[in-house]
Amino acid sequence: MMDLDAWLAKTKLVVCVGSGGVGKTTTAAAIGLRGALKGRKAIVLTIDPAKRLANSLGLDAMGGEPTRIDLSALPDAGGELWAMMLDSRGTFDALIANVSPSPEARDRILKNHIYRNMADAFAGSQDYMATEKLYDLASAGRWDLVVLDTPPVKNALDFLESPGKVVTFLDERILSWFLAPYERKNVWGGRLLAGTSAFMFKLLGYVFGKEFLDDLAEFLQDFRGLYDGFRHRHQAVMSMMRATDTSFVTVCAPNESSIDVARFFQVELAKRDLPRAGVVVNQVHRCDAADDDANAALGVAVARLSTDLPPATAATLLARLGRAHVRLRALVEAEHALAGSLRAAAKGGGFYQEVPRIEGEVHDLTSLRAVGEYLFGAPAEEA
Ligand SMILES: Nc1ncnc2c1ncn2[C@@H]1O[C@H](COP(=O)(O)OP(=O)(O)OP(=O)(O)O)[C@@H](O)[C@H]1O
Ligand SMILES: [Mg+2]
Repeated sequence: MMDLDAWLAKTKLVVCVGSGGVGKTTTAAAIGLRGALKGRKAIVLTIDPAKRLANSLGLDAMGGEPTRIDLSALPDAGGELWAMMLDSRGTFDALIANVSPSPEARDRILKNHIYRNMADAFAGSQDYMATEKLYDLASAGRWDLVVLDTPPVKNALDFLESPGKVVTFLDERILSWFLAPYERKNVWGGRLLAGTSAFMFKLLGYVFGKEFLDDLAEFLQDFRGLYDGFRHRHQAVMSMMRATDTSFVTVCAPNESSIDVARFFQVELAKRDLPRAGVVVNQVHRCDAADDDANAALGVAVARLSTDLPPATAATLLARLGRAHVRLRALVEAEHALAGSLRAAAKGGGFYQEVPRIEGEVHDLTSLRAVGEYLFGAPAEEA
């Protein structure tokens, strides 16, 4: 059975994936906090539009800058916990600055009208920004544990390919096609160009005007200069993702669709040669008492609490509670059976861990630490 604290101690980057609402953000925060409790300098990067993580960490709001979480309520925390929400636009501008061959090219691109529009479109794809930010944080040297919370989409792993998409966009052949008319002299001096590209540009010129096309050409010419920068970063991101101290953790809830998505992620991670650390089944129901024991205990409780109740009412109450207990046991068994395939797969390596549903929501450091204690505590029983 795997020791999860030993696993975390060797891990520098954790990526939490899973379907919507299962507890990815909660798990990411709980892992970060666990790291801080063990003396690590941890940062949790979330791309949640909702401010749940901020709230559960006692922050009013979380910005695009790393924010240190006040852990004074947990005096045993020897490390640091930081959190950060993604500011996509800022990240994109920073990325352009990082890969630009010269300050002049950078300024031209950042001011370019088309870039501004495109950056807005790109900024919408938070998954891409996540990879960028992640890379910066992981290589900054300021934190020794980075935990990434991914967006609740089945194609969450696409974020790994996103930089690849930019590289494809910048592919020489595509750019050459666009830029062909500009690379011949006197394009706008009335010389007719041959080929589709020329035709397209003429058409675009009619529709959008020459100024727009000049902007576009300037933008693409500068962008071409970024190709190497993007390619190198993409390679660096991919090798970081495949590093031995990187771990993907799949989070799911104990229901059929979420477990299906978890299995899907396990397969996709394997296909992409990405390090799978294990699976967390979050918010499972717990019921430790056998029916007879529960009935006896309920009988005592009802008798004690309801000495004023008419006997018939007390009997009805007891019968209802007894049935509720039977249903809870059935639910626990059904959840256990559903997760069977994940448990079996975990035997081949990686951890399988269950975290029970905690009373109320996970809304503060104490409940977050409780989630961590379950997560890192005694492993779930073998099937
Ligand atoms: N073990 C738990 N016990 C009780 N409540 C939990 C537990 N885990 C998560 N929650 C609650 O469930 C809700 C969803 O959790 P969370 O936001 O972490 O899920 P998510 O997978 O990040 O969601 P999304 O896909 O929307 O980003 C939150 O209100 C959280 O407090
Ligand atoms: Mg979330």
